[in-house]
Amino acid sequence: MAPSADIHTATNGANGVHNGVNSLKKYQDRSNLVPFSSRLKEGRALAEDVWSIFNAANLPADCINLGQGYMNFAPPSWVKDAAEDALNSVATNHYSHPKGRLRLRQALNKFYGPQLGRELDVESEILVTSGANEGQYSVFVAFLEQGDEVIMFEPFFDQYLPSVTFNGGIPVYVPLHPQASVDNPAKNEWLIDFDELERAITPRTKMIIVNTPHNPVGKVFTRAELEKIAVLAERHNLLVMADEVYDYLVFDGKEHVRFATLPGMWDRTVTVGSAGKLFSATGWRVGWLIGPASIIRPTLAATTRIVFCTNSPLQEAAAVGLEQARERGFLEQQTREYDERRNALTAAFDKLGMKYSQPEGSYFVLLDISSVQWPENYPFPPSVLGRGRDFSACWFIAMEVGVSSIPVSEFYCEEHCTIGENYARFAFCKDIDTMKQAAERLQSLSKFLK
Ligand SMILES: Cc1ncc(COP(=O)(O)O)c(C=O)c1O
Repeated sequence: MAPSADIHTATNGANGVHNGVNSLKKYQDRSNLVPFSSRLKEGRALAEDVWSIFNAANLPADCINLGQGYMNFAPPSWVKDAAEDALNSVATNHYSHPKGRLRLRQALNKFYGPQLGRELDVESEILVTSGANEGQYSVFVAFLEQGDEVIMFEPFFDQYLPSVTFNGGIPVYVPLHPQASVDNPAKNEWLIDFDELERAITPRTKMIIVNTPHNPVGKVFTRAELEKIAVLAERHNLLVMADEVYDYLVFDGKEHVRFATLPGMWDRTVTVGSAGKLFSATGWRVGWLIGPASIIRPTLAATTRIVFCTNSPLQEAAAVGLEQARERGFLEQQTREYDERRNALTAAFDKLGMKYSQPEGSYFVLLDISSVQWPENYPFPPSVLGRGRDFSACWFIAMEVGVSSIPVSEFYCEEHCTIGENYARFAFCKDIDTMKQAAERLQSLSKFLK
């Protein structure tokens, strides 16, 4: 039976399906019958992203992957054993409370309470989420009205953008500016222009995302910087999302300042954490939010609708991880191991005489690739050719040197992407042997430097 006329007039969506005289033709092509939501476009969710260009299938089989930010090693055995114990019990295989398992919330209180300078109420101030990512998404669901603006520093963790726009928010981008470090002009540091930040705030600004230690810059924001952000948050009544998923990866004795501990900031800050980062278990999808009840309660309502609860056995394992991390000396040992991996990579760049941003925290190094040169007729694929210089550089390095990285312009809006075009992000969350091998391979880059 032919579709009725009113069905024809009802469709006109983001994928460009139109109505009217071509209706019969339209229904012959059944590959795109129902239009998808325009929010997928606004959130760049359908664009060919950097991960699909620089994935293993497109790169040489033996390429060392320093592009994607996940580990090539397992979680600690005592945390894995706890996961196995949980799988072998009954209750821990079933639904948990949407707030998270009590054992994990209690462990979070013991672990984070002292650092936040308060006893946390495990019923109203802690929420376990399906990775930090889902927790952040739930905060956006809970707090954003259509047209609310959310400030994010560029380069930004790429999930922020779709998570904000899917919930009606408008991302407002404030770039960090790379500058030669005063202490060591061969290195870059990334700074906030506070006038620019204040100009970005409007009556519609609802939130600001502060990611420290920072992905991808490796910056640990100083107390002075955070205090200035706090002043603005107070002046303009902003909700602060303190994305601190790399809180235990801080090097060289740098101080990680928890935003929520700054004067007056507890009441307007939600702190984001991740068992994936803390225990090398990114696929477990366990994260958490800590904040005042006024932020956690609405966010609980959102997360309950989205996932109902986070997987139970791995919550138990994360609880054991937090309970035992300190007494086992795990955090110090993990930092030492990451430090060694970081040094293997930066020593390779030093040897090449290349400039990079010294990672103070997280597990990323931004290499300045402006000195990398490739033959004019180098056979880049079309997916790379249409993009910034950093896409070409990363592709070229992966093909010729056998080490993959990620172009940094991907983490900028169009207007500011030229800042990112000079950088490639290398992740050092790989075991030391892999890092040493990558460091050795990278020396062959010397042939291609101006
Ligand atoms: C800055 C930042 N925030 C949040 C996340 C998400 O963490 P999770 O894997 O726990 O969802 C990541 C993961 O890469 C990240 O880099």
